[in-house]
Amino acid sequence: MEESEARVEMDSLAARIYALRDAYYARDELLADDAEYDQLVAQLEALEEQFPQFATDDSPTRIVGAGQSTLFAPLTHAERMYSLDNVFSDEEMRDWLSKIRGEYPQVHFLCEPKIDGLALNLHYENGRLITAATRGDGVTGEDVSENVQHIPGLPEMLTGTEHPAVVEVRGEVFFPIQVFHDMNATLAEAGERVFANPRNAASGSLRQKLDARAQAKQDAGRWRISQLKMTVHGIGAWPEPPLSTQSELYELLGHWGLPVSSLAEVHTDTEGVIDYIHRMNERREGLDHEIDGVVVKVDSWATQRELGATSRAPRWAVAYKYPPEQVSTILRDIVVSVGRTGRATPYAVLDPVTVAGSEVERATLHNQDVVKAKGVLIGDHVVIRKAGDVIPEVLGPVVERRDGSERPFEMPTHCPECGTRLAPQKEGDIDLRCPNQRSCPAQVRGRIEHIGSRGGLDIEGLGEVSAFALTQPLRPSPAPLSSEAGLFGLRVEDIFPIDYQPRDADTGQPRVDDTTGEPIVLSPFRRKRGKDDPPHQDGGDFAGTESEVPSRAAIELIDQLEKARTKPLWRLLVSLNIRHVGPVAARALAGHFGSLEAIEAADSQQLAAIDGVGPTIAQSIVDWLEVDWHREIVASWRASGVNFVDPDWSPEAGHAESGPLAGAKVVVTGSVDGFTRDGAAEAVRAAGGLPVSGVSKNTTVVVVGPGAGSKHDKALELGIPVVDQKDFSTLITEGLAAVSVLNAD
Ligand code: IVH
Repeated sequence: MEESEARVEMDSLAARIYALRDAYYARDELLADDAEYDQLVAQLEALEEQFPQFATDDSPTRIVGAGQSTLFAPLTHAERMYSLDNVFSDEEMRDWLSKIRGEYPQVHFLCEPKIDGLALNLHYENGRLITAATRGDGVTGEDVSENVQHIPGLPEMLTGTEHPAVVEVRGEVFFPIQVFHDMNATLAEAGERVFANPRNAASGSLRQKLDARAQAKQDAGRWRISQLKMTVHGIGAWPEPPLSTQSELYELLGHWGLPVSSLAEVHTDTEGVIDYIHRMNERREGLDHEIDGVVVKVDSWATQRELGATSRAPRWAVAYKYPPEQVSTILRDIVVSVGRTGRATPYAVLDPVTVAGSEVERATLHNQDVVKAKGVLIGDHVVIRKAGDVIPEVLGPVVERRDGSERPFEMPTHCPECGTRLAPQKEGDIDLRCPNQRSCPAQVRGRIEHIGSRGGLDIEGLGEVSAFALTQPLRPSPAPLSSEAGLFGLRVEDIFPIDYQPRDADTGQPRVDDTTGEPIVLSPFRRKRGKDDPPHQDGGDFAGTESEVPSRAAIELIDQLEKARTKPLWRLLVSLNIRHVGPVAARALAGHFGSLEAIEAADSQQLAAIDGVGPTIAQSIVDWLEVDWHREIVASWRASGVNFVDPDWSPEAGHAESGPLAGAKVVVTGSVDGFTRDGAAEAVRAAGGLPVSGVSKNTTVVVVGPGAGSKHDKALELGIPVVDQKDFSTLITEGLAAVSVLNAD
């Protein structure tokens, strides 16, 4: 490479690395995976070696980690926190080991998992935890002392005696994989944003400003912190440690009550180390946290001191990074779908492949800028991985495999469903939206599906398929529903004639019969008249035609809609599809106001004052109510008998001093159907109870659901009434006397 070229390339690499770091540390966004990031750093390092004249002092190869976000106060570590150099193969590992052994023939190596989490520095003085900080740029981190108090298993006071005046203990904070999956499932069900992987979840949980949030969010946030775990793997400042090896240190830290890894092993020969690395890779799936490699450290402290450190990493330790689970496949197409809120999202249609154990054929590409940033062309071979082993992600193209037939993606200028010109919602937004909220079929369909969802009116027969059939059938024309306004006015005879063509989830094209090639047409709401059916009569209750009668699905759907008219107010509020009003806010609103009329009469300040609502949601409600066609929905639903009043509501119950759970301390452990954790806590509060997290003899009742753990055992031990999660709705509406207690007698 020419000098001039090298210089440009080095600048560009440094800028990209800083951009990735900034996104990750300041905004919790993962724009590239570790391997990609490491590769950029390695490229820059190589160029700096070749062209030292262009290596700058502020190069990311010399400055560890990242700057801090502005949310937390800066805290300078007593001793700097280093990063680690990486090796990526057995060969590189062997080279590293033999280089050290060349100088120190008697060396012992301590091997341990490299935990994929977040580095934390705990500052103890005379055995007492004084502060805790993230790594930040290695010199100064973020003061997260407040949040760290809620991490279980971190001693505020070290056990034993004779603690040093000052010692910094370093380790990794992580989110256990199982809890991560459960939490994401709950978030997804509630329609909230999920975390990309356990590391993001750990970082997001530890680095949240709790006191700036509404009560319900604080509780949820604290719960998330309470799920974090830590493993310690080293020390910073400690003027005169009475120890000579790293393994002795772990023993001592363990005696002090700190969580040390049970997986560390000392090896003297190269093959012992390599074997450890392979064994750990095989065990990787079975561990309760993610690991991205193995860290190998020189065990002797005297040798560590002699080897010292570069500006960024110690010379006495190295990380062996495992390759992430990724595969390549063909990007067949990039299709744009429009969601409930009108957002137009491009997604990748892929040749099906298996990644990390499950089949992937679609992956979101978020928006046109992401498509551009990833540099993928339609027809490319692309690399896919599962972020956090859950959400499939397109990492980028395999450029060498292009044959010239690939073509670039062009973001449509108009909505693929209704033809309206797409536009950003406000200036500066990257996402494009279809502004035709009122009648874009995709948005209407999405809203109707949302009305039927578990967090809404929970109508089993009203899912994705029936929302489509009701709004975009082949026949009749016009469709039974042109918007949600008519939903509660539907009668059996309106839906009886529906014929619809199911669409392919990937291409949006009508599905065809595999053998005949004919488009498939379904008629879900009628069936042939059987000999047991009563004969056809004109007039009266609709009984079908001479040859056909309404299907069970038709009768049930209309029946479920009838019942839904008197469902709790909060469910009806969720069903109005007001931006930001999910189950948590809706419960808070219903609990406080008791009727939609009272909400309509309130101004934004009154709305914002409610716990669990706040100014953004309040404004969103006020704005929503000002739109004509929104008011028409409400009027039309009311006219069809929808009851926007909670019958048992009273101003006192609204303020939660009384209610079916008045004064009760309620612990909910494990998941509760139809409720998020926030939602369950809010519902307990709305019923007059106090949601608490720990079981004690003062607890009134413990609700257990799938995933319940030690709290269930504790309740049984203390004889606290235990109630199954399926009775939770009865518990909050009718009180403890109305449900069966599992451990009665
Ligand atoms: S020792 C001075 N041990 O990996 C040596 N680090 O990529 C500092 N990490 O900054 C690190 N597991 O946050 C060490 N068993 C382990 C580790 C570990 C994870 C993190 C640590 C470090 C990063 C470097």
